[in-house]
Amino acid sequence: TRTPVNVTVTGAAGQIGYALLFRIASGHLLGPDVPVNLRLLEITPALKAAEGTAMELDDCAFPLLKGITITDDAKTAFDGVNVALLVGARPRTKGMERGDLLEANGGIFKPQGEAINAGAADDVKVLVVGNPANTNALIAQQHAPDVPRERFTAMTRLDHNRALSQLAKKLGVAVTDIQNMTIWGNHSATQYPDLFHAKVGDKTAAEAVNDQAWLENDFIPTVAKRGAAIIEARGASSAASAANAAIDHVYDWVNGTEWTSMAIPSDGSYGVPEGIISSFPVRTSGGSYEIIQGLEIDEFSRARIDASVAELVEERDAVKGLGLI
Ligand code: NAI
Repeated sequence: TRTPVNVTVTGAAGQIGYALLFRIASGHLLGPDVPVNLRLLEITPALKAAEGTAMELDDCAFPLLKGITITDDAKTAFDGVNVALLVGARPRTKGMERGDLLEANGGIFKPQGEAINAGAADDVKVLVVGNPANTNALIAQQHAPDVPRERFTAMTRLDHNRALSQLAKKLGVAVTDIQNMTIWGNHSATQYPDLFHAKVGDKTAAEAVNDQAWLENDFIPTVAKRGAAIIEARGASSAASAANAAIDHVYDWVNGTEWTSMAIPSDGSYGVPEGIISSFPVRTSGGSYEIIQGLEIDEFSRARIDASVAELVEERDAVKGLGLI
């Protein structure tokens, strides 16, 4: 029998945690025959709620779920961790400046990076979901110098999946008819969902759409501002769809895929400054990934990628200025 994989979820008592844990335990994160141990990390006041979720996990009698640990101690949570899902973060509240937000999140992701550095398994893979996800991933990575830096990733898969759905609707095709979708840049309103490399049959998605005004004025802003539209409609931020995207991100990283979007440390490809955690088109195989190379970037795409990357550089400089990295 296989040794269980240790999966740590931070912010486990939050709304994404609630949508995520049951799918991990039922085999959707890693595969239908991979047993898992769950480690739930929460802040002390939320431990009781995490215990309630653990009771429900018990009540599902999931065959693959071999153990649950609930803790408010990062060292305990990340000891021996194979897959770390960093969901818990400090949201921006009224009157909070960007500096305050980055500082508050530095206070979360620095100690978590240190704990991952101290105790994680050799094959650890980290996905940061908590916002600002790209920069939080950078902070954690910078405090885990013994972990290969490419193991720190941030989530743009929800944006990727949103782009697939919007495009499929526009063209009246199935999402499975679309290949090679890419989100570039930051998981923020500056992100760039790229229809010039996405394919529908033997055409690019941009050719299939053949409507530059829709692409610029409808598609890109709809994808980029979808999070706000969900809050407006639901009265709460995306949770099940975010959990689903986290599952997709890790599943594809572990099990391989020809083309997806992940925010990863740049190696300088496509003019993105080295070290910035930015979203790229990637191919995954055997538990590792590589940036898909050789795509031609026209002027329209270049300007949008540059704008999003500039925002990431600003965030990096801001956390540097605050002494967080
Ligand atoms: P939530 O507020 O429902 O849950 C967050 C949980 O994190 C809370 O239970 C809180 O107690 C916990 N937490 C706070 N500090 C912690 C720490 N130091 N250690 C462990 N746990 C801690 O929020 P929700 O809706 O679950 O969202 C979580 C994060 O995911 C937010 O930052 C949100 O902005 C982000 N998000 C990212 C998306 C993406 O596409 N990258 C999409 C949707 C949400």
